[in-house]
Amino acid sequence: MTVAPRSHDKQAATVDSQMPRRRHARVAFEVSDCSPPWLLAVVSDWLFFKPRVTYGPNARFAIGKPDDFPPGTRIARDVERVCIVREGNKIAAISTTCTHLGCIVAIADTGFACPCHGSHYDQDGNVTGGPAPKPLPWFQVTLAPNGDVVIDKNASVDPGTYLTV
Ligand code: FES
Repeated sequence: MTVAPRSHDKQAATVDSQMPRRRHARVAFEVSDCSPPWLLAVVSDWLFFKPRVTYGPNARFAIGKPDDFPPGTRIARDVERVCIVREGNKIAAISTTCTHLGCIVAIADTGFACPCHGSHYDQDGNVTGGPAPKPLPWFQVTLAPNGDVVIDKNASVDPGTYLTV
């Protein structure tokens, strides 16, 4: 003898088969409902804490001990764009960034020469030819407590300003 399913049993079977679908839809809704604020928070935190700077060489840096630069030395450091000048017991730092359009000038017999458009500077960075509008700046030179020579490119000094070491 067969018993025909009652109508509420069919309804219960239909409801049971729909439950996983509804559960998935609910989970998907909750995830989609929750993820935008979470994602927004992560992205905004990342944007907020990310420094808005361009990284490059430090403007204040040590170059070594004074004895690393014997008298008569003129050493160009292209990474820092500075020329270290040692005369007797005095040290100075002159910019090697051309004041025309910013190329790195090279040390020449007469001072400095720019390879880009032909500007020339004398030994002190004064313009002697070419399109450069102004002399090469000089930077502050100090001695650190450990005896290192420190150049500060944020601090310009008058041309001819040397640190006595
Ligand atoms: S950049 Fe040096 S002369 Fe133009």
